[in-house]
Amino acid sequence: MRSNGCGELRKQHIASSVQLCGWVDRCRDHGGVIFIDLRDKSGTIQVTVDPDQGKELFATAENLRNETVLQITGQVRERPIEAINKKLGTGEIEVLADSLIILNTVSQNLPFNVSIHEDEGVKEELRLRYRYLDLRKERMSRNLHLRHQTIQTARHFLEEEGFIEIETPILTKSTPEGARDYLVPSRVCEGEWFALPQSPQLFKQLLMVGGLEKYYQIARCFRDEDLRADRQPEFTQLDMEMSFMNQEEILDLNERLIAAIWKTTKGIDLPLPFPRITWQEAMNSYGTDRPDTRFEMKLINVNEIVKDMNFKVFSNAVASGGCVKCLTVSGGNNSISNVRIKPGGDIFSEAQQAGAGGLAFIRVREAGEIDTIGAIKTSFNTKQKEELLEQTKAQPGDLILFGAGDIKTVNKALDRVRIFLAKELGLISTNPNKMKWDFLWVVDFPMFEFNQDEKRFEALHHPFCAPNQNDIGNEPTEWPNRLPNSRAQAYDLVLNGLELGGGSIRIHEAELQKKVLETIGLNMNEANKQFGFLTEALQMGAPPHGGIAFGLDRIVMLLTGAESIRDTIAFPKTQQARCLMTGAPNEVSDQQLQELHVSSTWVAPD
Ligand code: AMO
Repeated sequence: MRSNGCGELRKQHIASSVQLCGWVDRCRDHGGVIFIDLRDKSGTIQVTVDPDQGKELFATAENLRNETVLQITGQVRERPIEAINKKLGTGEIEVLADSLIILNTVSQNLPFNVSIHEDEGVKEELRLRYRYLDLRKERMSRNLHLRHQTIQTARHFLEEEGFIEIETPILTKSTPEGARDYLVPSRVCEGEWFALPQSPQLFKQLLMVGGLEKYYQIARCFRDEDLRADRQPEFTQLDMEMSFMNQEEILDLNERLIAAIWKTTKGIDLPLPFPRITWQEAMNSYGTDRPDTRFEMKLINVNEIVKDMNFKVFSNAVASGGCVKCLTVSGGNNSISNVRIKPGGDIFSEAQQAGAGGLAFIRVREAGEIDTIGAIKTSFNTKQKEELLEQTKAQPGDLILFGAGDIKTVNKALDRVRIFLAKELGLISTNPNKMKWDFLWVVDFPMFEFNQDEKRFEALHHPFCAPNQNDIGNEPTEWPNRLPNSRAQAYDLVLNGLELGGGSIRIHEAELQKKVLETIGLNMNEANKQFGFLTEALQMGAPPHGGIAFGLDRIVMLLTGAESIRDTIAFPKTQQARCLMTGAPNEVSDQQLQELHVSSTWVAPD
């Protein structure tokens, strides 16, 4: 149907006859000559329709709506110098049409303009409702092309390394990744339910027991959880598992994979190896397990300095097993007023939203003097003052913000304030050409976290991560005592404060797996019911193995600079987990429910 792509034509095509297909991006009538910008996936070209070429042709061109689908034939010619458009690749030429066929019309007003000449600014709801129109926009098309390139690079890299792609089931049994399951009722097994996979975790481990050694998959995962800009209920993992490789070998392979993706998609050479820090170090210095290391502003624990102070907020926090940590805002005396840190202020509000009661602060003046308000003011003696300035390395003009209380809340609040201030103070460059790519492996996660509400241990990643052998020792009778405080052989890849992927070495011995399931509160019966097929397989010659999964949508989000992963997925869901285009989820008929042996308890609100 066509000889060339619209955007492919250049000066070297001058005088050739071409046949093109595409959409009318826009149409302009310039005193008797009509200019059509014709767009296809390769770009846009100006098509000129001259009345001298025929009356009928001209009449058709006069009444074209935007987004009409056309096939044109014509001759490529040079544009007059004054008409050259340097912004377009095809801007030095145009096509003089000698025929024009309408392949499809647009029968109604479009909900928004698709044209490359239109600014963005269309509401996301409208874009998602008419996603097929939104996909015609250059930005969306570029994002999806980059997504494809990312997948192709990963496939190529992994296949070179000896991996094969294997699909795992979608109708399956629940795998605990920490979110709620999407459930599917079975018609034939009355009263029973499938769960959609939160990840292919157990199947990929069983592939290792099956001797496949190196597996990968572009795996669709489903999690019914609260949604954010970087979370979708249905998302894609670049998932892999490998046998007979230790943690360091897995990290090495994966950072080479990431480097290959950055090289092909962005032309960037990432320095390898990526830095590694322990989970404990990340929590101490940044208050989070996914630190943004593009800027410093580290948190400093000042328990030792403040524990005997008269200022009860500090000394009580330490005495009750909590902590006092601070962060230094360089030059903060000028840029940040007291009002912003006190109740009602925006910085106060950041801390409060993370659960903190507030933020104490001091301002560093000349000659080591400090200045502040409230009870804290008179509480520092000279020695404490000196120690504080030495530890924080604060200079005259700097502001020191303090969080005091239980460790979790202090970390959460100061992490939030740190990111908030870094954005405001311009510590993170927003210039795409100066973008920093601060990759970081966070290693040595704890195996478990104590859930205060349920009074039980929970697996921090999932209960199939292998514990650090030094932490549990070689004596199985000791495992129940030592497991709760042991570290896992688990690792996360973090980029600019976002978790890109996570994985671990897995437990490959049935006995240890059972002990871990016991530690998270599953009795033998429950453990068998849920994971008996796994522990059974582990007794039949399971090799040592480990793996990782990256959030593909998140990788593409960072590569494209998109603000939400919705812009990296062709047909995403909204924050309410809805597809605005198809209207899913939707009600189903009573007959369907009956066949599935399901009845709904939902009562519509009045
Ligand atoms: P995890 O739960 O850490 O690990 O998931 C791996 C990566 O998947 C991405 N991710 C998401 N992306 C978009 N929307 C979501 N709702 C969402 N949830 C997670 C993140 C995350 O780092 N089975 C383990 C992996 C393993 O151990 O091999 C797992 O799923 O980028």
